[in-house]
Amino acid sequence: MAKKISAVITGVGGYVPEYRLTNKELERMVDTTDEWIKTRTGVEERRILKGAGKATSDLGAPAVKNLLEKRGIDPLEIDCIICCTVTPDMFFPATANIISEKVGAKNAFSFDLGAACSGFLFGLTMGASLIECGRYKKVVIVGADKMSAITDYSDRTTCILFGDGAGAVLLEPGEEGFGVLDSNLKTDGIGGKYLHMKAGGSQRPASIETVVAKEHYIFQEGQAVFKFAVVRMADAAYELMERNKLSGDDISWLVPHQANKRIIDATANRMGIPSEKVMLNIMRYGNTTSGTIPLCLWDWESKLKKGDNLVFAAFGGGFTWGATLIKWAYDGKS
Ligand code: UT7
Repeated sequence: MAKKISAVITGVGGYVPEYRLTNKELERMVDTTDEWIKTRTGVEERRILKGAGKATSDLGAPAVKNLLEKRGIDPLEIDCIICCTVTPDMFFPATANIISEKVGAKNAFSFDLGAACSGFLFGLTMGASLIECGRYKKVVIVGADKMSAITDYSDRTTCILFGDGAGAVLLEPGEEGFGVLDSNLKTDGIGGKYLHMKAGGSQRPASIETVVAKEHYIFQEGQAVFKFAVVRMADAAYELMERNKLSGDDISWLVPHQANKRIIDATANRMGIPSEKVMLNIMRYGNTTSGTIPLCLWDWESKLKKGDNLVFAAFGGGFTWGATLIKWAYDGKS
């Protein structure tokens, strides 16, 4: 019988723009307080990509470059780039194509994947399949979102949550028993009504009316989304642990999507994972949608050890949600 090929994460890159939008600055923009934002969400500041014409690819490309430089890999070796995003530079071409061009990945095919805040998890599973089938050797998954482009900075219920950023990982064939071991991914279309952008698509193309009605921004019924997220993200992670016969003690790190610290705490509790094993950077970056999980890996890479069990967990618009089990394949360097 042919040996199964394992898809292993062999490198991490990231990029966040310089500008820090603090809670204090938001206090001057909308009716909110630093205290409310911190206690209800955990966010203290988020990064914003400034500059006319700057787009999601200006976050994704530096993240991919950072990844390739750290690993000393020629961009021409990349077989495929998957960009997970809900804020593409434009409808088409795909932002992944633009990133490929910017990083010089001339031999790669590339495409975008849209699964909102679960985008990186879904992209990782797709990328792993490309490696596991034996046809591709180097696949980059980049989660990149310029959320500031679709955020209404007069709406206090959403503008406090989101930030801009990108993270990327490289998948390669690797040692058996390491890498992407299992994935528990789900969608439920019922979620569409609670979290979406009303206009700009084929159903309601952009018009003067849609602009005046502010329909090109994130619409979210926060409480409804919260209720689903807090249960489903924890359920998906718990199911993944059960079917792999893992207890909280066996997990080295929970790597959660960073939407709300309360959702993260509930997930960690359900999994029996103490807070010191939970990656948390929501206070510094806010919710960067597809960027959150790879940005956690970027921040924590130096602490990771070969053989660590990582559970990635996410919940987002769609609804989309899920959890992925990773056996980390290399020792981090400080
Ligand atoms: O990543 C994609 C998936 N998205 C999520 O997972 C987000 C899920 N939802 C959430 O994280 C939370 O629902 C929010 C952070 C968005 C809101 O927190 P909440 O605890 O659910 O607040 P709420 O919507 O129930 O509002 C409570 C109160 C309301 O006032 P009243 O009606 O009690 O007088 C709001 O008007 O807080 C008010 N409020 C604010 N007050 C100060 C809402 N936003 C703000 C604000 N500052 N920024």
